[in-house]
Amino acid sequence: MKESQPSAILLKDYKVPPFLIDKTELTFDLDETNTVVTSHLHMRRNPACGKSTQPLVLDGGEDIKLIGVAMDGYTLPSEEYRLVDDKLIITATADEFVLTCETLIDPQNNTRLEGLYRSSSMFCTQCEAEGFRHITYYLDRPDVMSVFTTTIIADETRYPVMLSNGNETERGKTDEGKTFVVWHDPFPKPAYLFALVAGDLAVKNDVFTTQSKRDIKLQIFTERHNIDKVNYAMEALKRSMRWDEETYGREYDLDIFMIVAVDDFNMGAMENKGLNIFNSSCLLASPETTTDDAFLRVESVVAHEYFHNWSGNRVTCRDWFQLSLKEGFTVFRDQSFSSDMHSETVKRVEDVSFLKTAQFAEDAGPMAHPVRPSSYIEISNFYTLTVYEKGAEIVRMIHTLLGEEAFRKGSDLYFERHDGQAVTCDDFVAAMQDASGVDLTLFKRWYSQAGTPVVTVTDEYDEQTKTYRLTVKQHTPATPAQPTKLSLHIPIRVGLISEQGDALTADFHNERSDDFVLHLKDNEQTFEFTSVHSKPIPSLLRSFSAPVKLHYEYTTEQLLLLLSCDSDGFNRWSAAQQLAVNELSQLIQQAENGDAFSIDSNLVAGFKALLEDETLDPAMVALILKLPSQAYLSELAEVIDPQAIKGARHFLKVTIANALAAQFADVYKKHVVMGKYQANAQDIAHRSLKNTALSYWAESADQRAQTAVAEQFKQADNMTDQFAALSIAVKTNHKSAQNMLTAFYEQWKAEPLVVNKWLMLSASQESDDALGAVKALMEHPSFDLKNPNKVRSVLGGFGQNTSGFHHKDGSGYQFLADQIIVLNKRNPQLASRLCTPLTRWKKLKPELSVQMKQQLERILAEDLSKDVYEVVSKSLA
Ligand code: PHE
Ligand code: ZN
Repeated sequence: MKESQPSAILLKDYKVPPFLIDKTELTFDLDETNTVVTSHLHMRRNPACGKSTQPLVLDGGEDIKLIGVAMDGYTLPSEEYRLVDDKLIITATADEFVLTCETLIDPQNNTRLEGLYRSSSMFCTQCEAEGFRHITYYLDRPDVMSVFTTTIIADETRYPVMLSNGNETERGKTDEGKTFVVWHDPFPKPAYLFALVAGDLAVKNDVFTTQSKRDIKLQIFTERHNIDKVNYAMEALKRSMRWDEETYGREYDLDIFMIVAVDDFNMGAMENKGLNIFNSSCLLASPETTTDDAFLRVESVVAHEYFHNWSGNRVTCRDWFQLSLKEGFTVFRDQSFSSDMHSETVKRVEDVSFLKTAQFAEDAGPMAHPVRPSSYIEISNFYTLTVYEKGAEIVRMIHTLLGEEAFRKGSDLYFERHDGQAVTCDDFVAAMQDASGVDLTLFKRWYSQAGTPVVTVTDEYDEQTKTYRLTVKQHTPATPAQPTKLSLHIPIRVGLISEQGDALTADFHNERSDDFVLHLKDNEQTFEFTSVHSKPIPSLLRSFSAPVKLHYEYTTEQLLLLLSCDSDGFNRWSAAQQLAVNELSQLIQQAENGDAFSIDSNLVAGFKALLEDETLDPAMVALILKLPSQAYLSELAEVIDPQAIKGARHFLKVTIANALAAQFADVYKKHVVMGKYQANAQDIAHRSLKNTALSYWAESADQRAQTAVAEQFKQADNMTDQFAALSIAVKTNHKSAQNMLTAFYEQWKAEPLVVNKWLMLSASQESDDALGAVKALMEHPSFDLKNPNKVRSVLGGFGQNTSGFHHKDGSGYQFLADQIIVLNKRNPQLASRLCTPLTRWKKLKPELSVQMKQQLERILAEDLSKDVYEVVSKSLA
């Protein structure tokens, strides 16, 4: 452990910057290990600070070397500046001056993948959140916005493509015969949106004509061997550009928009102005190498980064506590886009299951924090599901409260009022409120309060007066640093259904309808509906109108009725999930008690009806058939017993499979997609149902299913079907599973993204020596500790390996801790994210819990990066 521990940054300490940087001129003399960066910063004291004599304090990093610093051309002698804790401090400055800095950096040995680094044979940058300070000394904070001009100097034979933000304005030769290229970005931006790329890259060109008839040049760059895999991303980009014009009235601003794919990247992608940089896993796609899920991910990430041009770049964040201002809003925008491109219900179900599985777990654990946190040690740790996904739910609730039209007025006002500014979540809400007249004062608590509210509903129907009452209570459990909670403004969309399954109308607040939005604001409220002709079954929280845990004592019959009759597609799925959860909870209990498994046949009957009804949307049927995941059941559990959960799920799946083997075989055959592969909603739906049916059929005693799996693996002409067959073979212990894994690797070893899928699946394979197998994977020639995708594939796959990861001797936890310790220094961001499974230690059953805790303590004893220190110390607190 270090002597002194890193300290927290607090929202309440925010102060405007004492200096502004009007213009930033950068020159990069690129070299693998010795890149020289020269900056000219046109600075002045911030008039908002009044008359001040504060020193100039610039952010830097331990990995940059200061060669020299000059002010208005005068080279400062060493006594006129100080370097303290990676900061460059200059005491005497004029009110306005040009600061020149020269730094030396080593991109080749930059394993943190922040700042300027090398990936394969190219140079690239990642500056969000605080990466720019690893390039040069700067006011590295989002409220300092500057106009950037960037000159790149390199050897053209090795780096023919040299890119930065904005437009290329000049190109020529230096005296030494190198090539230089100048880029100018006219839009002021914070340093976190700066980008530079250089390499021997292939390009795909296209054009988009905007609503005002401007032609925008579109370019996607990749390493040469990947350029045949960018067509889908290019089409997705054009769809995104059109959608943002039509839905938000937002047109692209520069004349050129570029995307570059890189293999080594900590996150999914980055919205740098005019020059997005993508993890290749979120950009490259082809039918042979990419699954349906991955196609959809490419489309949504392309859209997400493009949408940031307005929600993030034109209007940016004042400070990093406001991260959800851009991320929550942009996730909401990309979700709406995907919903419009495909199926609204399917998209909502997928987003909500993810939220309820992973974000709810985060919000109930030691790292729980508000959507707008009030404190952090390392900001990289706050690119979380809470800031992104719960943040998007907050924007969605505002959309529900205002309605489509007023929401659009609100977003128009927000973009108009704050264009070119760095603002706060409060500013966003104020624009929504001012444009709509809807009072959002109470609603704003969603930003500052952590934890998932629990909403409990009871009801009564009065036959005599035809009155129906819903009593709704809310309670948010305590989270770290927030022991007491306030009540929230929760929009609850409710529908009423008769016992025959028809919509049931009622009077409520002078409106007669069968669908209402209730505004829960107090800890307890009763809502009264009149002229209700028969006893209703409530369809609660339609479309998941708020990110809460809902409790209502539904009977099995009521759930079956909702499943078959609710006009809200989301709640039909929700009812099915509840039925499955009820069944699984009993089975998990039986497993924990060591009792024999026994199940109720209701679920089987419900599934049978579903499989035999040919009028249903195959995508919905597939979603409903998917049993609640191990992770979701763990989130719901009071105390997690991984083996019991796994055993219960497996028993239920096999039971359903055997009861309905004939139906699954039939559905499997009926939903084979004919013709050329297409990643459209319809074909994806059929493949999804077909492969879900196969996953059940293969669990049954019907031997023909085994043949079907092997045949599909061999004959598939697309990755979705091939990988589905392989996964099913591995999960069901198919007799050829091992041969299939080997054959798959041999077939795809030249495609790193496919190899990553193979690594993940192999690492998740349950066996008596799962840990040994994972250790072997990390020695495999295809593995590379420098590549975050590969690390995440192997360790992520291992995390799903119940027998290996949760081994009772603690060896699985110890192994993960070993990897975290190795990566702690090399790549702190990645190391910190790998800690997530260990942060759940308190919820595990006691024998496992102590083992996990020991590993956290072992990690804490190391000399830690801020990133890992924050997560591990908070988890143990
Ligand atoms: N801002 C990126 C996004 O959500 C995510 C990101 C954060 C990428 C930090 C890299 C580093 O679109
Ligand atoms: Zn984003």
